[in-house]
Amino acid sequence: MADLHETYTLPERTYLVGLELYSKPAMLSIEDSLDELALLAETAGLAVIGQTYQRLHAVDSATYIGAGKVEEIKALVQAHNVQLILFDDELSPRHQRELEKRFGDSVRVLDRSALILDIFAQHARTHEGALQVELAQYEYRLPRLTRQWTHLARQGGGGGARGGNGGVGLRGPGETQLEVDRREISARISKLKRDLEAVRTHRETHRRKRRNSGVPLVALVGYTNAGKSTLLKALTGADTYIANQLFATLDPLTRKATLPSGRQVLFSDTVGFIHKLPTTLIAAFRATLEEISEADLLLHVVDVSHPNVLEHIETVEKTLAEINVPKVRRVLVWNKADLLQGDLPNPQGMTLPKVQVLVSAMKHEGLEDLLEALETTLKDAMYSIRLKIPYAEGEFVSMLYNLGVVEQREDTVDGICITARVSEILYPEVVRFQQI
Ligand code: GTP
Repeated sequence: MADLHETYTLPERTYLVGLELYSKPAMLSIEDSLDELALLAETAGLAVIGQTYQRLHAVDSATYIGAGKVEEIKALVQAHNVQLILFDDELSPRHQRELEKRFGDSVRVLDRSALILDIFAQHARTHEGALQVELAQYEYRLPRLTRQWTHLARQGGGGGARGGNGGVGLRGPGETQLEVDRREISARISKLKRDLEAVRTHRETHRRKRRNSGVPLVALVGYTNAGKSTLLKALTGADTYIANQLFATLDPLTRKATLPSGRQVLFSDTVGFIHKLPTTLIAAFRATLEEISEADLLLHVVDVSHPNVLEHIETVEKTLAEINVPKVRRVLVWNKADLLQGDLPNPQGMTLPKVQVLVSAMKHEGLEDLLEALETTLKDAMYSIRLKIPYAEGEFVSMLYNLGVVEQREDTVDGICITARVSEILYPEVVRFQQI
């Protein structure tokens, strides 16, 4: 289901349009937001030939942007042979329909959400990732079905609905076809939800296994292109897909690594975040994203050289809050140190994580500091315990050495007395033994 590439030969000549409301200041300035949209368009293989924006007090109820701006863009479309007009915000179905009507048949109207969904669709690699994106795409499309989606007609259910044009008092063929499309999409959405449920049950088993193994989970989160995959590769040698593209990584990838103390941890790379991530996408990915809240620690990776790095941090935090990930401890990783000119950005009243490390994942610089910070933070996130363990439970003692931090040990006549720090996940195991 790739919206953008279905009927056109790429690269499509694309014009970007933004709107900034005086009443609703956005996190990114309209210029920066359009620059980001241009990058997204490039990632999707479109040819951006220009951009324009408007500042208004309120969205125009009919045409989203002002009627005068619509006329200005129409003239540009003709003069520059524009094939696609791309809006920087999610258009309501009503606005989209009205704009399509005003711009006419020779040009398509899409928005940032459709574009991001398309990029996600191209990058999904696991079965679950593909199902989630497809669900998000259909949910985005359902209220927006217009003649633009007539390709659905080819997928069946069509013949009768298309014929019989012109009967007085009957719905036109276009409308009837829309109804067929709507029914097909609704049925597909239900099927996708069922399929996803099955995948999730299967994954829950894996998650339980991991929790029971007691190995702490460190999740990498960050704005798209911050360098999460590069860092994961640098830390674990994992063969991940790295590209100077937005959303190169879509599906979570988990790798085991050993910290300098010998302690094992799991690192998990997650989907990149972005300003104005489509709501249907967040909903579809909720289950994947919620896994982040199960992590013992978050490594928030940021591109320190990006001029909007603070806005990126804020966007990621806002999205994490939306999916209820407030409590997990964080380490802030200022990545791409090799590109940093001058000082670290000034957070200007923002609250950043206390533990921060400057690294270059690409040049493998600062990684030891990062591992040390990780080790200390994980240790802080642990409970202190003092137990007497029977000699017969040697396996549990080895587990404490592998997964916790053993601070003191004394072998007595009736058991091993151990003072250690363990993470929360080991706690159910620990309560089996005598606390001393
Ligand atoms: P998404 O998949 O979009 O979420 O991106 P990501 O955060 O996984 O980023 P990725 O590791 O794919 O890196 C994005 C780009 O930044 C690539 O071109 C990397 O080579 C580059 N990059 C990553 N780390 C560094 C670094 O330390 N220095 C420099 N100069 N470039 C880096």
